[in-house]
Amino acid sequence: MQTAIYTYPGYQQLGEDIAQQLGMPTHEIIVHHFPDKESMVTLPDKKYSHVFLLLSLDYPNNKLVELLLTCKTLRSQGTQRISLIAPYLCYMRQDKSFNPGEVISQQVIGHWLSELVDDLITVDPHLHRVKSLDVVIPGTNTIVFSATHLLGDFVKSLNKTVHLIGPDEESLQWVKSVALTSHSPYSVAKKERLSDTHVEIQLPEIDYQDQHIILIDDVISTGHTVAQAADKLYNAGAKQVDVIATHALFSRDAIALLNKVKIKNIWSSNSITHPTNQISLDVMLAQKIKSLL
Ligand code: R5P
Repeated sequence: MQTAIYTYPGYQQLGEDIAQQLGMPTHEIIVHHFPDKESMVTLPDKKYSHVFLLLSLDYPNNKLVELLLTCKTLRSQGTQRISLIAPYLCYMRQDKSFNPGEVISQQVIGHWLSELVDDLITVDPHLHRVKSLDVVIPGTNTIVFSATHLLGDFVKSLNKTVHLIGPDEESLQWVKSVALTSHSPYSVAKKERLSDTHVEIQLPEIDYQDQHIILIDDVISTGHTVAQAADKLYNAGAKQVDVIATHALFSRDAIALLNKVKIKNIWSSNSITHPTNQISLDVMLAQKIKSLL
């Protein structure tokens, strides 16, 4: 099969890094947004029977339409297999109706993606009550991997004595794995979410005096979770607080908020292209793509 990687805006570099390892061609998809925010998608003037689309689905609404336009057009041109590489997968958090009338967006978007693509490669999807992506995206071959060992290698490379903290109970799975790889001690805080921007964090009761803490989370969105945790850690005597996240969503003024509470370093994987990216997923993604060839 003739294969290629098509990259959406912002993902050319990652696409090229992956393609180089596989000896595969890459081509850019051009996206133009009209003043009313409609999307105009221009596909490469090429034909391949198997196309890998590289597009993280943060800020997803436009991107989902652009993906629809791409996939429908590729199919009409005879592409037999479409594999989506979406290191960050959107709409995973609303996995039930918490209040009457609330749409279960995970189900709707998952089924919709299953109609578009044959394979989906993603990284640490935020699954909670539904444990498997095969249930969320039925009929699509889903390949999921975790970035935590790469985060752990990064912590190890700092060569510092650090204590890792997960800011809520859900982060246990990630912080534990990062701690195993980096041979660091770890603890997990408790969090109550009151609204999008209001959380209450309760730190684990340990001695923070002069400790160097690294907060580990899968997603940083508004930044309120890690900002409040950092603030409390400094008040408890920590000498330095850094943050590592797999998915650097950083919505609204998140970075300013993190700077305000004096978080020293903010590091992320390049699952979402962002200036804080320090940990590359290219080798892992190339391996997963290879498994589909
Ligand atoms: C939630 O369970 C996630 O793991 C993150 O803690 C959450 O998405 C962070 O959100 P924010 O940065 O808006 O506090």
